[in-house]
Amino acid sequence: MKIANLVKYVLLTVLTSAGVLAFANEENSIESRLAPVGNVCIEGIECTTAVAVASPESDDNSPEALFKGKCNSCHGTGAGGAPIVGNTDAWAPRIAKGTESLYASALNGVAGTMMMPKGGFSDLADEDVQAIVDYMVEQSQ
Ligand code: HEC
Repeated sequence: MKIANLVKYVLLTVLTSAGVLAFANEENSIESRLAPVGNVCIEGIECTTAVAVASPESDDNSPEALFKGKCNSCHGTGAGGAPIVGNTDAWAPRIAKGTESLYASALNGVAGTMMMPKGGFSDLADEDVQAIVDYMVEQSQ
C-alpha cells in the first residue's frame, strides 16, 4: 500500500513536470516563431537582438566611430569653442591652412585652448588621429 502510493506519487510528479516542460517548450517555439526580424538565434542559445552601436567601448575602429567616441563631445556640440563638424563656415579657414597643419593641431593640441594633444586620448595611434581629421574635414566641406 505504502509503496503503491509512493509509485503513484512519483508517476504523477513525473507526468506533471513532463507536461509542464512540454507546455513550456511549445510556448518557446511560438515565441521564437513570433520573434522580430533582426534577432540572432543560435540553436541551444538564447536569442539576442543584433544592434550595432558605436560607443567608446566599441570594437569599431573606423574614423567615424572613433570620432563619435572620442571627439564628438566637443566637435559635435561646440563645447569649449570647438569648431563643429559639419559647419562649413567654421572649418573653411582651418581647412585652408592645409591638412598637415590640421594633423599637427590634432596630434599636438592647440596651446591655450581646450584642444589637447589627440583630443586628450593619448592612447590613440597617430594614424588613427589623422584618419579622424580626414573624416572631420570630409564632413565639413
Ligand atoms: C575637450 C574638447 C575637445 C575634444 C575632446 C577634441 N577637441 Fe579638437 N578642438 C577643440 C577646440 C576648442 C578646438 C579649437 C582650437 C582653436 O581655437 O584653434 C579644436 C580644434 C581642432 C582641430 C582644428 C585645429 C586647427 O588647427 O584649426 C582639429 C583638426 C581637431 N580639433 C581635432 C580633434 C580630434 C581628432 C579630436 C578627437 C581625437 C578632438 N579634436 C577632440 C576641442 C576639442
